[in-house]
Amino acid sequence: MTNPQSDAASAWTPLAFIDQQVAEIKETVGSGRVLCALSGGVDSAVTAALLQRAIGSQLTCVFVDHGLLRAGEVEQVRGDFVAATGVTLVFRDESNRFLDALAGVIDPEQKRKIVGREFIRVFEDAARQIAKETPIDFLAQGTIWPDVVESGSEDGSGKVKSHHNVGGLPDDLQFKLIEPVRTLFKYQVRDVGTALGLPDAMVWRQPFPGPGLGIRVVGEVTRERLDLLRMADAIVRQELAASDLNRSVWQFPVILLGDVHSTGVEGDARTYGNTVVLRPITSKDAMTAEWARLPYELVAKISTRITTECPTINRVVLDVTSKPPATIEWE
Ligand code: XMP
Repeated sequence: MTNPQSDAASAWTPLAFIDQQVAEIKETVGSGRVLCALSGGVDSAVTAALLQRAIGSQLTCVFVDHGLLRAGEVEQVRGDFVAATGVTLVFRDESNRFLDALAGVIDPEQKRKIVGREFIRVFEDAARQIAKETPIDFLAQGTIWPDVVESGSEDGSGKVKSHHNVGGLPDDLQFKLIEPVRTLFKYQVRDVGTALGLPDAMVWRQPFPGPGLGIRVVGEVTRERLDLLRMADAIVRQELAASDLNRSVWQFPVILLGDVHSTGVEGDARTYGNTVVLRPITSKDAMTAEWARLPYELVAKISTRITTECPTINRVVLDVTSKPPATIEWE
């Protein structure tokens, strides 16, 4: 599959890309209205910022809490993103709906499909509410080039995983899709975000998958297991930020293992508890990745904090596999 942006890689600049996209969006959208699916990540934030520059008040952003977000993320989007961009934001807490739909599901691809399907349905519902005055014509998504490649394509590229923002659309989709950053790699999306004036904290946020912690809880996704993972993940993010390695570590998934339990010791008693995996990686575009050689002191601090502060977690392991052969996420 050929990436139109990398064909002209030497000529690529964020400012030229912005000009070209603003013109294209204006032409495509006309006087229509656009809903932008915000995930909290840089891809959808840059997508929304581009759209806002192109069509301003014709854009409404919708942010859905699917119950699979990390600690503090809802507040970050509702606070920081709105303050930085001034977009109109509709917020929906749909965590019960998503967790009900995921109950009992252990297959990762199935989880992705369910999250994708519910997302679209929630957006359709949100659109109906918003469209009471003027109809919504387009759904904007922050799909980027690696998502397109890994979801396979009509030209025969192999399917690796069905990313929810490409593969899980239901047949009864009622919007036209608009995906202005679908030809970009992550580093290009970041350049565009900076050129659009988004704050560093947003531009340098680590990529986070659409299905969120749903694919980092291995096996069945329950509220209790999500809460436990959230606690461990927050510790990792705090320690990483304190270590100043945020920009060199591309992503740092924390995974709560499913069927595997771990024997431990607490005081005089044996425990039989949970294991989390630390998956820090370095990468340029998520297509390939190296496991990050973090300082042992940092790993030790994270491990001690997690086993001390997170009830039932009695073992922390470090994933030292590159991509390929392993993917970044475990599911
Ligand atoms: P993998 O695990 O395939 O991940 O090496 C590559 C990049 O994609 C992210 N990822 C996803 N993003 N929906 C998304 O929006 C998904 O289903 C999904 N699965 C993986 C992953 O976090 C990494 O950045």
